[in-house]
Amino acid sequence: AHAGLGTEIVNVINKLQDVFTSIGSSSQQAIDLPQICVLGSQSSGKSSVLENIVGRDFLPRGSGIVTRRPLVLQLVNKPAGTSQSNGAIDKSGDKSANVDEWGEFLHIPGEKFHDFNKIRDEIVRDTEAKTGKNAGISPQPINLRIYSPNVLTLTLVDLPGLTKVPVGDQPRDIEKQIRDMLMKYIARPACIILAVTAANQDLANSDGLKMAREVDPDGTRTIGVLTKVDLMDKGTDVVDILAGRIIPLRLGYVPVVNRGQRDIETNKPISQALENERDFFENHASYKGKAQFCGTPFLARKLNMILMHHIRATLPDIKQRITTNLAKYNTELAALGGAMGGEHGGNVVLSVITEFTAEFRTTIDGNTNDLSLNE
Ligand code: GDP
Ligand code: NA
Ligand code: MG
Repeated sequence: AHAGLGTEIVNVINKLQDVFTSIGSSSQQAIDLPQICVLGSQSSGKSSVLENIVGRDFLPRGSGIVTRRPLVLQLVNKPAGTSQSNGAIDKSGDKSANVDEWGEFLHIPGEKFHDFNKIRDEIVRDTEAKTGKNAGISPQPINLRIYSPNVLTLTLVDLPGLTKVPVGDQPRDIEKQIRDMLMKYIARPACIILAVTAANQDLANSDGLKMAREVDPDGTRTIGVLTKVDLMDKGTDVVDILAGRIIPLRLGYVPVVNRGQRDIETNKPISQALENERDFFENHASYKGKAQFCGTPFLARKLNMILMHHIRATLPDIKQRITTNLAKYNTELAALGGAMGGEHGGNVVLSVITEFTAEFRTTIDGNTNDLSLNE
């Protein structure tokens, strides 16, 4: 049983997350579904890290403030050839696109995006629609799901970076507004934090690490990610950090090499970038002995494993919360005295929750005695 069980659990959680997003934010907050968030300074490489984990080009990234709304990104591993028509319409018209890989936005139901450039365009379009063009930010998330045979099943959240000085239309208290926005995600005990720090900056000044420590003082859900290892001064490396001699993290650090600004401008393919990353670590004097613990593939495996642990640990709590919410909805509906007919919202919400609770319970009960990790 390799990864199968874990994948199933995460799939159920992904579905639950969609349900609670579509029925409103208060309900969403009532249920702590596990997910992974990136946290760090602006331009530390957060979006680049996420894009490398997914293995496809689709996130807006670059120097300056690019990510201006949270992006809740659900990756669903779907083996090639299993994609069925579920009524979604493919409007990409791109015959060369891989039929087994596509994205769907929650705000555009039923439309499959096979062209990942169009996914990026839609993220930019909807960001500007909600925040304007001049560096404004908004806590309102964009929900995107990506189906692919080439991803591990994970839920990731791309977040705006920590910044101090307002630019463009940003409010004077931009630092506080972004901190508050990030806090809503990372304070949740079910959030696994990818604390991203550029390796060519002083780790002691890492805003991401500092903020992660505020919400996770014991470091049980914070992974350090060191980007821009390729930009370090010659003769310097991150070996002391990896060995836990600078700022120790219980779950450790993973060094990565993403595409640089020039690579973005010249459209360097992500496959090429991942190959370059591997070459970099395998041939670098400081890392070649430990190259299997460096780079994006190791980060993705580590993440999946930590996520599985985390989900298993939080399952009883999630189950309790679902049961409580279900009872609450039942009571509310009863109080309405059947005033709401079959077509009305309340009943739809209830039936959706009931359906997912049933599915979720099967998954939980079916696995109660199997607490081993399938990795
Ligand atoms: P974010 O603001 O934290 O999301 O950062 P981005 O992912 O948008 O990246 C900011 C800039 O840093 C872009 O120009 C990237 O090309 C560059 N960058 C990110 N990671 C690396 C890296 O590992 N090496 C190099 N050379 N450049 C990187
Ligand atoms: Na950026
Ligand atoms: Mg970004």
